[in-house]
Amino acid sequence: MQYKELGSTGEKIPAIGIGTWKLRTANADVVPAIKEGFGLGMKFVDTAEMYGTEDMVGEAVHGEKGIFIATKVSPDHFHYKDVKNACGRSLKELGVKRIDLYQLHWPNSRIPIAETMKAMEELVEEGKIRHIGISNFSVEEMEDAMAALKTHEIVSNQLEYSLLVRDIEDEVLGYCRKNKMTVIAYSPLARGLLFEPRNNGLLQVLLEIGKKRRKSAAQVALAWVISKADVVTIPKAANVEHMRENAGASEIKLTAAEIDRINGFLGDLSERPVTERLNKFTKYTASFWSPVMRFREKVRRKRR
Ligand SMILES: NC(=O)c1ccc[n+]([C@@H]2O[C@H](COP(=O)([O-])OP(=O)(O)OC[C@H]3O[C@@H](n4cnc5c(N)ncnc54)[C@H](OP(=O)(O)O)[C@@H]3O)[C@@H](O)[C@H]2O)c1
Repeated sequence: MQYKELGSTGEKIPAIGIGTWKLRTANADVVPAIKEGFGLGMKFVDTAEMYGTEDMVGEAVHGEKGIFIATKVSPDHFHYKDVKNACGRSLKELGVKRIDLYQLHWPNSRIPIAETMKAMEELVEEGKIRHIGISNFSVEEMEDAMAALKTHEIVSNQLEYSLLVRDIEDEVLGYCRKNKMTVIAYSPLARGLLFEPRNNGLLQVLLEIGKKRRKSAAQVALAWVISKADVVTIPKAANVEHMRENAGASEIKLTAAEIDRINGFLGDLSERPVTERLNKFTKYTASFWSPVMRFREKVRRKRR
């Protein structure tokens, strides 16, 4: 397994971890699959109070050593007291004394970020969480969040990033790098859309690259994501086969020529409007998050 530094903490985390959104409704016994992932080096698992999977993660980590556990507090719990209570509930669900990475799931402009961050910093002081992270924060929101912290730093921003959804490349990725925040790429397989017939052209490129290395298209897609500096990822897999495949992606180091080939193909794809590239699941994020983010960035630039 490849490892990357978490922010500027000096601590290393696996470049490929395990996502758990929608595992609650998966038609499979997912705890053994998660455990399989741990055994293959994916000792990093991501959940959220919103997913309803913290108890499953708790079951999977039980008896394991050295698992890096990340969870998230929901935006409607960003008031000071609510953050504290939500953390208490998550610790209970997970069955652990301390959360490694506690993330603000989504920005909430209705609650002052200073109030939320006060609670987050106290949770670190109290030993209930080790690191503070954010998710789905734009550049402007990252600036506000960093300014709201007094004694601790934001170590990561969890954002959607895959071969099909590359919006963060505009500004956010560079900003995270500059400010030593690890990007945790979510939906790295574009929620499974990569394998749909409409994306067959891209799939063929991935298959060709994978064939020479005896790796699958999914593995090449994940390798592309983690080929970016300071980016780790958390694919979700409900079955053991997918989990094994995803762990194996960490063995691939794509060459510059291979990355150019993929990027060359993507050049055409990125011309298409976001909504055309995505199905109803990704539309939720794309129709809400991406335009909001772009609009905010535009306003911010105008103000300067
Ligand atoms: N912070 C946020 O706002 C946010 C938003 C969305 C997601 N996330 C996090 O990111 C994680 C991953 O994102 P995601 O679940 O949206 O999508 P994803 O990981 O891009 O894709 C999951 C889909 O790909 C399939 N898959 C997994 N491994 C595969 C393989 N090796 N070959 C072929 N298909 C494979 C899965 O099938 P099976 O399930 O059948 O294995 C599932 O249908 C989530 O679970 C969650 O932890 C965070």
